[in-house]
Order: sequence, then structure tokens, then C-alpha cells
Amino acid sequence: MSAKLVVGTQWGDEGKAKFIDYLSSEIDIIARYQGGANAGHTVKVDGETWVFHLMPSGILYPNTVCVIGNGVVLDPAALKTELDYLKNRGIDHKNRLILSDACHLVLPLHKDIDAARESAAAGKKIGTTKRGIGVAYGDKVTRIGLRLGDLLDSEILKERLEHLIEVKNRVLKEIYGLPAIDFNTSYDELARLGAEFAPMIKNTSVYLNDNLAAGSTVLLEGAQGTGLDIDFGTYPYVTSSNPTTGGAISGSGIRFQYLKEVIGICKAYVTRVGEGPFPTELLDESGEKLRQAGNEFGATTGRPRRCGWFDAEVLRHAARVNGLTSLALTKIDILSEFAEIKIATGYTRNSTPLEHMPSSGLEKVDVTWETMPGWQTDISKARKMSDLPDNCRRYIDRLVELAGVPVQFISVGPGREDTIVV
Ligand code: IMP
Repeated sequence: MSAKLVVGTQWGDEGKAKFIDYLSSEIDIIARYQGGANAGHTVKVDGETWVFHLMPSGILYPNTVCVIGNGVVLDPAALKTELDYLKNRGIDHKNRLILSDACHLVLPLHKDIDAARESAAAGKKIGTTKRGIGVAYGDKVTRIGLRLGDLLDSEILKERLEHLIEVKNRVLKEIYGLPAIDFNTSYDELARLGAEFAPMIKNTSVYLNDNLAAGSTVLLEGAQGTGLDIDFGTYPYVTSSNPTTGGAISGSGIRFQYLKEVIGICKAYVTRVGEGPFPTELLDESGEKLRQAGNEFGATTGRPRRCGWFDAEVLRHAARVNGLTSLALTKIDILSEFAEIKIATGYTRNSTPLEHMPSSGLEKVDVTWETMPGWQTDISKARKMSDLPDNCRRYIDRLVELAGVPVQFISVGPGREDTIVV
């Protein structure tokens, strides 16, 4: 009957998976709408840790149906690995996973080109996850991509794959000096995976809208974050999709009128992996302290994340482009060690205040800082606002005031139970 969206407000890794898992208990269907196996969603349930890359984290609830929407670029081999991971850990996904027939596929050749392009781009690296994401979305936009539904018809698969391989083999050989892809090997592998996935492949836009019309609740699960959005992020240091609200509609195909809530997930400090501007980045021991205390290492690549203080301008930008209706503030417990906490309240450039986050030139801004006293008390057992120390409540109030969006949830630890509902 209505849909909610969970979206990242920073550069990804805000702790979306915890809230997707937390909210899934009252949701019938959970759908991913963009990105691919570049995402790393970590969920902690009853002391056990789960890491997902493609699979919506709601798969851990036995009655939730999970959808991989048309806006996702799907790596069939990565999906197969994740299905085996679930099976080996005793999770039955039968009849609970539905894949869009319109998803574009990520093939080994996309990953090869992604990796080759990154290593050839001396000084101009994006710092991608090397999961072939940008190359697959590039093929989608240049209209030579292969879609999941194509695997279900041998003639269509043959025709499209031949064309794709012909184009890509030129790129592999002539630009990067890499071996060509063998058509027959790729065809056989894709036909095999197509047959295996066939019962799960559907028109998911029809499925979602029919179920919404029949009264189901849907949660749209964003990967990455607003700062990595191809249109609203720090281009070119972005991913190749729209994690923001517009992407949730086009990447799932739901009628936008169904979307009633947009929950922005916002870490109490900021992190970023890969290259690109980061105005509040801490290159000193405070940054290292955040990284260690927050265990800020990539779930997909293991790379150490860059860490910095909270940036209200980044959050205001996310509130505007996503139409946030509320916030979930995560990892505030990690700040408990600090005697003083800094907040970026805005930017200036050449001593002139900026009215909003600039579309380019973010690396040239100066930050306007505010310093608040810390609380230096363990808050991980807090379950209601009144359990939090005064200074912690003041910090939260200040973030809310700067963002202009109310806070709905506060996370004080990784578990489902470590959550304050405001
Ligand atoms: P790609 O999405 O692999 O092309 O990488 C493009 C940029 O997005 C790089 O800076 C990556 O580090 C970043 N990125 C992609 N996925 C994630 C994620 O799930 N969390 C954080 N950063 C990500």
C-alpha cells in the first residue's frame, strides 16, 4: 500500500544495512534499485555477522520477499556465490527472491575492463571497487548491454552476446592488450546460469506495483550514497548510478505516488572510500581513532575508509535532492571517546560563504567549523533519548537543527537492539 526508501546521505557506508534489516520486520517486500556487487552491506543479527553485496539484507527475515530491481547491474556469478552463501548458512530463499528481467548484466569482461582502466589511469583513478559497475552501466547507456531476460531466449542471447563480445574484444585487445573473450565459453556459462535463475526472473515493476495495489508494504534499499550519485555526487569520483530518490523510482518502476517516506541514513561522522574531495577529512590521529573505533574498513574490498568530522552541508544537500522525511543517525557511540567533537556547519570559497554544496570544486572550499564538548561515557546500552548524556543529546539536536530534518532513529551499536526510536 505504501513504500519507504532508505537512502545514504554521505559517501556510502552510513550503516544502511542495519536500518534496512531493522525496518524489514514490518515490510512485505524489499527491493534494491541501483548499484551492483560493489555494495557491501553488513548486518549483525543475534551476534552473527552477515555481509551482502547484491542480495537485499531483508532476506534474513523468513517471510520477506526480496527483489533485485531493473536499475541494478547484476553479476550472475556474484549472485550465484551469494545464493550458495545463504544456503550454506541455512537461509532458504526459495520463492523469496525475484530478479528483474530488465537488469543489465555484469560479465567478467566488465570487471576486466574496470580493473584495466583503473590501473591505466595513473593519477586519474576513481578508486572503483573493480566490480565492473561503470563499464556495465556504460554499455546500458550506449545500448549494447545484455539484460537478464535475454538469457531466457537462446536466439536473443546469441545475437546480443555476439555483438557485445565483438565490441568489447576490440577494447580488451586494442586498448588494454588483454586476451579476447571466447564467445562459446561465455554463451554456455550464461545459458546455464539463465536456466538456473529462470524461475526467479520476472517483470519486477509489474510485480511491485501489483503488490502495492493489493496492500503490501515495500522498502526500497539504496546502495552507496548521495555523494556517490552520478548526477548529485562529487563527479567524476562517483559510482555510475543514482542512489538518490529519483533512482529509486526509475530503478524499481514503482508508481512514485506510493513513496511516502524517505529515510536518510547518516553517520555521526563521515567516511569515504576511493578517491575524491572530502572537505572534513581528518588526516591526523583523530582520523585514525575514528577508523579504528568505527572499524572503518570496506566490506567489499577491505580498503581502509577515509574518516572525517560530520558535515552539515553534505547532509543539507542530501536532504534537498532526496526529499528526506527523517533521519537515522548511526554510529554515534563511536564518538564517545572524544573530548571535543567538530562539526562542519558550511563552506566558504575565497572567504565568500557558499549557499550550498557546489557541484564542482568541492576540493577548493574551506570549512566553517563549530566545536562541541564530547560526553566520554559509554552510550551503547542507551535505549531511549533520556539514557543519553546531555552533551550527546545537544550534539544530536545541533545536527538536526543544521540539517532541517527530524531524526527518527539513533543507532548506538551494530545489533538490531542497539537502536533508539525517537
Ligand atoms: P564503483 O561503484 O565500483 O565504480 O566505484 C566508484 C566509487 O564508488 C569508488 O569511490 C568506490 O569506492 C565507491 N563505492 C562503490 N560502492 C561503494 C559502497 O558500497 N560503499 C562506499 N563506496 C562505494
